[in-house]
Amino acid sequence: MRLAVVGSINTDMTVTAERIPLKGETLMGSSLSYIPGGKGANQAVAMAKLGAEVEMFGCVGDDSNGEKMLENLKAVGAEHIQILKGVPTGIAMITVGDNDNTIIVVPGANGKVDRAYIDSIKSELEKFDMVVLQHEIPLETVHYVIEFCYEKGIKIVLNPAPAAAVPMEIIDKVTYVTPNEHEAVLIFGDKLSTEDLLRKYPEKLVITQGSRGVSTCLKDGRILNIPARKAQVVDTTGAGDTLNGAFSVRIAEGKAIEDALTYANVAASLSTEKFGAQTGMPTAEEVETELKK
Ligand code: RIB
Repeated sequence: MRLAVVGSINTDMTVTAERIPLKGETLMGSSLSYIPGGKGANQAVAMAKLGAEVEMFGCVGDDSNGEKMLENLKAVGAEHIQILKGVPTGIAMITVGDNDNTIIVVPGANGKVDRAYIDSIKSELEKFDMVVLQHEIPLETVHYVIEFCYEKGIKIVLNPAPAAAVPMEIIDKVTYVTPNEHEAVLIFGDKLSTEDLLRKYPEKLVITQGSRGVSTCLKDGRILNIPARKAQVVDTTGAGDTLNGAFSVRIAEGKAIEDALTYANVAASLSTEKFGAQTGMPTAEEVETELKK
């Protein structure tokens, strides 16, 4: 099965400090790194590290960050990434400290991933079996891709991060939607309990719950909760991306949702034990070893 990601490519400007600063506070940091990130690119790299054949679609600027980010995507297919003249590559300003982080994204070229770009890659996209999307490119483009993939019968995983409302007709067209609790409330409202909400979308809605793990409702109506694995946390940046990447790989391999989520949960937890969104992502072998423990 061939997987594609249509999404963001960022350079993460990551500062480590003892803790994340309070509003209006100045703290002394201990390091500053410029490393590959972006929810789209992170999910593509997570899949490639787990052995999947994956291609990344999106845009970078014609700056040195763009060059480095393209170089970094060599293991993933990156042939159709557009380099935009006079536009900066996306940047994420990240603070990491005390098992937590804050992130501000300046989209740059990611904000230019538009319908015209999608039209230019449609004949390529059609060749994939599953397309994975996030919310770091214009939402209008995300919905446009979903409409296209739905028409073509291509499976769609929507990771609706960062949080934004999603029209119900778009939810109806995706195969899987994987919000965290906050994103789920924004999309589905807060009238239903988490369990009742999951029951409305069996084996389609997957809600990530941080240190409480990940939940879905099985087709037989049982609520499945996979508790989080205990980790020696260094940096949680990209853990959600690892989960989405690993989940997509396992589903694409034809595994049952329980298997896919168990695997993804362990992969995400392992990714927090090393620094960086992508540098910490585990290989298939590392996940398998951990699962056998
Ligand atoms: O999910 C983590 C990612 O969010 C970071 O890599 C950063 O680029 C932001 O997009």
